[in-house]
Amino acid sequence: MSTNTKRFPEGFLWGGATAANQLEGAYQEGGKGLNLADVLPGGKDRYKLLTSTGFNFEMDESKYVYPNHTGIDFYHRYKEDIALFAEMGFKVFRLSIAWSRIFPKGDELTPNEEGLAFYDRVFDELQKYGIEPLVTIAHYETPLHLIKEYGGWRNRKLVDFFERYVTVLFNRYKGKVKYWLTFNEINGATHFPLFGLGFSPDSEETRLQDSFQGLHHQFVASAKAVKLGHELMPESQIGCMLIYAPTYSYDSNPENVMYALEQGRLFNFFCGDVQVRGEYPSFINRYFKEHNINLDIEEGDLETIKEGTVDFISFSYYMSLTEKKEKTEEEVGQGNLIGGVKNPFLKASDWGWEIDPVGLRVALNELYDRYEKPLMVVENGLGAYDKVEEDGSINDDYRIDYLREHIRAMGEAVEEGVELIGYTSWGCIDLVSASTGEMSKRYGFIYVDKHDDGSGTLERSRKKSFFWYKDVIASNGKNL
Ligand code: BG6
Repeated sequence: MSTNTKRFPEGFLWGGATAANQLEGAYQEGGKGLNLADVLPGGKDRYKLLTSTGFNFEMDESKYVYPNHTGIDFYHRYKEDIALFAEMGFKVFRLSIAWSRIFPKGDELTPNEEGLAFYDRVFDELQKYGIEPLVTIAHYETPLHLIKEYGGWRNRKLVDFFERYVTVLFNRYKGKVKYWLTFNEINGATHFPLFGLGFSPDSEETRLQDSFQGLHHQFVASAKAVKLGHELMPESQIGCMLIYAPTYSYDSNPENVMYALEQGRLFNFFCGDVQVRGEYPSFINRYFKEHNINLDIEEGDLETIKEGTVDFISFSYYMSLTEKKEKTEEEVGQGNLIGGVKNPFLKASDWGWEIDPVGLRVALNELYDRYEKPLMVVENGLGAYDKVEEDGSINDDYRIDYLREHIRAMGEAVEEGVELIGYTSWGCIDLVSASTGEMSKRYGFIYVDKHDDGSGTLERSRKKSFFWYKDVIASNGKNL
């Protein structure tokens, strides 16, 4: 254990984060309809699908396993899991609601009562332990029917379907849920339109135009949700959710510095500018012009966006990016998940994600400098292989080291005046990886006996990091 001299504010929201499709399982129970994650296979082809074009959204069970179908069976085991979160002292638990549990197809007029009742039970269980729910309304779970019949978020009609969905959620869960996030990692859309926008690009030529149009629809939908949420639940706090990757220049060559600034601004700030400031930033006009992007913006949309700005900013942080204007093919291949080149000063995880705790401090400062709104880190963590020893213990010191340095970096930012209100580390209980579908890419404090081929007892056990995090929370970040 080491000591952190930096103080976190009283009432700081320590906890963990998950998403429905990655842990619930029970993909056809309780009246749930199919969604995007249900048709994503586990294994190497998953990432290819996420980044390529023309996916037909059909399952092929003779060829693939579909790990999200069973997840880690949270649907049936939520009581045991929440009890473990409570044992660690969680103040907050981030979960998402699977849209297709509430509206199985997405375009119905009336919701599915069984789906609503399931989340009632989960929220009641959290309340029993005094754990605050933090709910993501859309986390890579677009109902399949909306994808196949409507083309996902490219279609304006989804704004109305989403409005109906959030209206039901707010009316049902007001009084139980105070903290809401609209769209998970909204700015990842142009890289992974499949995930966030529920469509596979027809071609590389149409990718950008369709993604930015889909994003516009989500900006309108998000702003409408914020307005409605404030009307129906005056106490609510509704945030946006960004994937944030501070973007460094590879060197001091001014061409590279300018390039890194442009790339970083487009990726990290474009969506935040719209959702926090309530308007499209001026820098996007040139980008749209140079990339032949023409948005269909309906009358009243810009006013809606202006009126529906968020209360706080939440983001995921896993890596920084290092950019260089002219890159060789080899350099491109060595970059991170979302691009860039290899940073010679950083080591990477087993999945090639560069580990950079200082980058989190940079992210917090950049976001706070730009928006001066409360911040919450709602995803951060190390995906790693874990080994179960003969006595059943799991000594995940690598995970503890990773988290310790990131929490330390947050402490520095708090000291610098950043208003940070919470931290939910990703995958607090092992769950299905979003990008690879693997179980072996584990993030949890709680080990789940399930493997990539779907085998395992689903039994839960406490890793070494479980006890470490418990102490971190009990000491409000002092004991690291
Ligand atoms: C974020 C997503 O991008 O990263 C999560 O919001 C995801 O859904 C997490 O699980 C970690 O990524 P992966 O691919 O390791 O599961």
